[in-house]
Amino acid sequence: MSSGKENPVYTFSHISSTNDAARRMIRGGEIDGDAVIVADVQTAGKGRKRRDWVSPRGGLWLTRVLLPRLRRDRWPLYSFLAGVAAVRAIKGDTGVDVRLKWPNDLIFRGKKMGGILLETVGEEFVLIGVGINLAVSWPSQLAGSTRFPPVNLCCVSGYPHDEWCDLRAALLSSFNRETDLLHRQTDVNGELVVDCWRRYCETLSCEVLVKTDRGCLRGTALDVDDDGSLVVKRRDGEVISLRAGEVSVAQKGGGIYGQQRQ
Ligand code: BTN
Repeated sequence: MSSGKENPVYTFSHISSTNDAARRMIRGGEIDGDAVIVADVQTAGKGRKRRDWVSPRGGLWLTRVLLPRLRRDRWPLYSFLAGVAAVRAIKGDTGVDVRLKWPNDLIFRGKKMGGILLETVGEEFVLIGVGINLAVSWPSQLAGSTRFPPVNLCCVSGYPHDEWCDLRAALLSSFNRETDLLHRQTDVNGELVVDCWRRYCETLSCEVLVKTDRGCLRGTALDVDDDGSLVVKRRDGEVISLRAGEVSVAQKGGGIYGQQRQ
């Protein structure tokens, strides 16, 4: 660990949600600094936009509790950091080239393998929740649920599931490395981390269809703002920033991909 100090790791076989457990433990005074919560199974896992996140055995479900040292308005940088750290850890540990899809999905060849949920607890803590499908086969192990990342890492990498602790360790070191860079002000405005995120992101420069709460729009994904919004140039030339939405990316042949299960 680059900070030289081990963060406490709380491991559960079953828990509602590692993010919710972290929140409870912070409020109850059990956690007062950087920490990690890991579960084999989540019984009430959460995705973005208040969606359920089905979390059976065979996935990596964890929350990194972080004491932020950036100004509040810079906290969206932690989301970029989480995406970059996850991509690098997966590549380093398994050799698989995972990419990012806005806002922060982990994808392999256009299909979702994992996701990241950033939450805050008051003004003091950031919770980075990461869910990765390691070895769950869709749909046979999901008892009818259709909301699950269809790609599993073991399948595409040949990575043995019984060694999943290595990936967990790689992910946590990767978080620590990227966080140190940001906190030590090496990356004063977060430019490095946002640039890395852009490099790993498959959404930018593409024709996209974005479903928002107010309807669908088509256009070209130009960039991301510092606050994580997607900047899209609509077909009529208007440039708009979207804070939330579901993106599908147009393929060269004209089709759209990205209407994924989770
Ligand atoms: C998404 O919607 O893509 C984000 C999914 C994030 C899931 C992870 S699993 C660990 C942590 N605990 C949760 O309840 N959610 C996050």
